[in-house]
Amino acid sequence: MATEPLAPDNILLTPVQLGAITAPNRILMAPLTRNRADDDGTPNALQAEYYAQRAGAGLIITEGSQPAAVGKGYPNVPGVHTDAQQAGWARIADAVHGAGGRIVVQLMHGGRISHPDTLGGATPVAPSAIRPAGKIFTPRGEQEFVEPRELRTDELPGVVAEFADAARRAVAAGLDGIELHSANGYLLHQFLADGSNRRTDGYGGSAQNRARFVVEVAKACAEAIGADRVGIRISPGHQFNDVTESDLSAYPVLAERLRDLGLAYLHVLVEADEKILVQLRELWPDRLVLNTGFGQETDRDTAARLIDTGVADAVAVGRPFLGNPDLVRRWTEGAELNELRPELFYGGTAEGYTDYPALP
Ligand SMILES: Cc1cc2nc3c(=O)[nH]c(=O)nc-3n(C[C@H](O)[C@H](O)[C@H](O)COP(=O)(O)O)c2cc1C
Repeated sequence: MATEPLAPDNILLTPVQLGAITAPNRILMAPLTRNRADDDGTPNALQAEYYAQRAGAGLIITEGSQPAAVGKGYPNVPGVHTDAQQAGWARIADAVHGAGGRIVVQLMHGGRISHPDTLGGATPVAPSAIRPAGKIFTPRGEQEFVEPRELRTDELPGVVAEFADAARRAVAAGLDGIELHSANGYLLHQFLADGSNRRTDGYGGSAQNRARFVVEVAKACAEAIGADRVGIRISPGHQFNDVTESDLSAYPVLAERLRDLGLAYLHVLVEADEKILVQLRELWPDRLVLNTGFGQETDRDTAARLIDTGVADAVAVGRPFLGNPDLVRRWTEGAELNELRPELFYGGTAEGYTDYPALP
C-alpha cells in the first residue's frame, strides 16, 4: 500500500554510528538465509548481485554463515572458513561497496540445529546432548533431528578460535565486520538457554555461566578485528528451533559484559513491548538495533516510531528487504512494495532472489 513520502528529516533517514560503521540511514537489512551458495559453502556471483542490489540499506547484515564446517546448519548456506569462501566474500564486499553500501557477515554456528546429512556424516555438536524436537531440512529432504554430541570443556577454546578466525577472514575479505548470531536457537543461543544447556562445568547452570561462552566468543572476535566491528544478535525468550528458556536472566548479564567490551551494536529480536527489551535498553542506551520478530512484517511507520520514542536506534528489516531491493527508496517515497514469493525464499536460482524489480 502506498503511503505519504517521508519528511526529509524523518529519523529513519538520519545517520547512526554503529561502532566503526556509519550507517547513512537507520533502515538495516536483517539477516536472511537464502541457501544459494555453492554446495561447498562458497559465496557466488549471484549472491554478490543480490547484496549489491540492496546496498541502499543503512547496513546489510548477511545471511547466517558458518565459522567452521561443523557449524553448517542447512544445505547451500555460506561459510567463512576456507580460502575459496573468503574469496567469494571479497567479491560480495567489492560489489556492495561499489554500489555505495556497507555489509557485515552474520556468523552462525548451527550447533544442534543441523544433521549428519548436511555435515558429510558428522554428528552436530551442542552444549548438551539434547535432541531438539522436530525436523530439519537436509540435502536429502526433511529429517528428524539427531541427538547432538556434547562439546567437551577442553574443546571450547577451539570453537572460540574458529569464530575469531572467521572474523579475521571476514575483515580480510573487505567486509565491514561481523554479527554474532546468538539468537533463534543456534549454538550460541543453545548455551544461553537452560533448555538446551545442562552443563555442569563453568559454562552451564547460573546466568553468568550460561553467558560465559558467548562472552568468550565475542571477546575473541573483538580482539581479532576490533570490538567496533563486532555486533551481536540475541532473541530473548524466542522459542525458535525448540530452544526453551525458563528465565531470561542470562541476557542482562550478557549485555553488561558485552557493553564492557565495547561492541559495535546489540541487535535484539523481540516484540517491542516485552519487558526484557526495557531492561536491555537501560544497559544499552545507544546502538541498539531492533527487529520485532516474525509475527508481523516490519512496516515503515512502526519502525520510525520505535526509534523516535527511544526504544531502539535502528531497525533491522527482513522480509520487506527480501522482496524490495530498493526498500529505502520505496519507504522514502511512500511507494508500493513488491509482492513476496515465500515459496522461493530458501534455495533455488535467481528467480525469487535477484528478480524482484527496483523502481524505474
Ligand atoms: C527467509 C528468512 C531467512 C532468515 N534467515 C535468518 C538468518 O540467517 N539469521 C537470522 O538471525 N535471522 C534470520 N531470519 C529472521 C529475520 O532476520 C527476521 O528476524 C524476521 O524475518 C522477522 O523480521 P521481518 O518482519 O522484518 O521479516 C530469517 C527470516 C526469513 C524470512
